[in-house]
Amino acid sequence: MDWLLVGSSGDMALAKIIVVTSGKGGVGKTTSSAAIGTGIALQGFKTVIIDFDVGLRNLDLIMGCERRVVYDFVNVINKEATLSQALIKDKRTKDLFILPASQTRDKDALTQEGVQGVLEELAKEFDYIICDSPAGIEKGAQMALYFADAAIVVTNPEVSSVRDSDRILGILQSKSRRAEEGKEPIEEYLLLTRYHPERVALGEMLSVSDVEDILAIPLLGVIPESEAVLKASNQGTPVILDTESEAGLAYTDAVDRLMGEERPLRFLDIQKKGFFKRLLGG
Ligand SMILES: Nc1ncnc2c1ncn2[C@@H]1O[C@H](COP(=O)(O)OP(=O)(O)OP(=O)(O)O)[C@@H](O)[C@H]1O
Ligand SMILES: [Mg+2]
Repeated sequence: MDWLLVGSSGDMALAKIIVVTSGKGGVGKTTSSAAIGTGIALQGFKTVIIDFDVGLRNLDLIMGCERRVVYDFVNVINKEATLSQALIKDKRTKDLFILPASQTRDKDALTQEGVQGVLEELAKEFDYIICDSPAGIEKGAQMALYFADAAIVVTNPEVSSVRDSDRILGILQSKSRRAEEGKEPIEEYLLLTRYHPERVALGEMLSVSDVEDILAIPLLGVIPESEAVLKASNQGTPVILDTESEAGLAYTDAVDRLMGEERPLRFLDIQKKGFFKRLLGG
């Protein structure tokens, strides 16, 4: 893996900044940020997940820490709170912290210098910094990806989502700090979520290979459409902790691949359960 040196000259630190992005809204970025951040921390790396979605605050709900939010990302940028006041330590997973988004309606509250300052401070302490991007390809999304070393491009198997992922790939390659400074480009990974094998077979959704062909970036994982995701988010638990669910296991595989392990793809075939139940008269 290609690590970036962040920090001011005296205080060099190693941290990998990963943006979870998509272009299109509602494809599963926050679900994936929570799951992948948790999965990385479970491997023993000190990890922080930052909610860049100013005004919405979804990450703390999915992580089940919304009642503990006192200060947020914008407060730290504005020096109204210190990082240690704003960071929320996850109650289940050791080595995992959340930096919640602001409720402010001011979408310009995140400045590039402000974000840089916070990332540099975090980089002194953390191994991984996960940036949960807001939807779109405008300023908010660009702020979330600007300092990234790697990008997880969350995509649903449908044309509109793939098209917007292609747009965000263009921005990663032209408007990120690495692009502007002519450094090694951002590592790009495809995460295909809400995959529905039945609908793929019916031709209603694109297949894994269709999406891979169009976007042409390495596949980090395929997360099946699963009721376990909604259940987990209602409980304020990242779905990766549900080791009974296919979605949870698929996220674990994705994290292992991110760490350089080889894992075969699974859960891509149509479930036969309903059919056997019917055979048995169930
Ligand atoms: N694998 C899945 N199976 C079923 N539902 C899913 C799956 N992944 C995400 N969802 C659901 O899709 C919805 C959107 O998910 P999420 O909030 O993670 O998307 P997002 O990309 O962060 O959205 P936004 O662009 O608004 O930030 C949620 O209701 C979530 O529960
Ligand atoms: Mg989100």
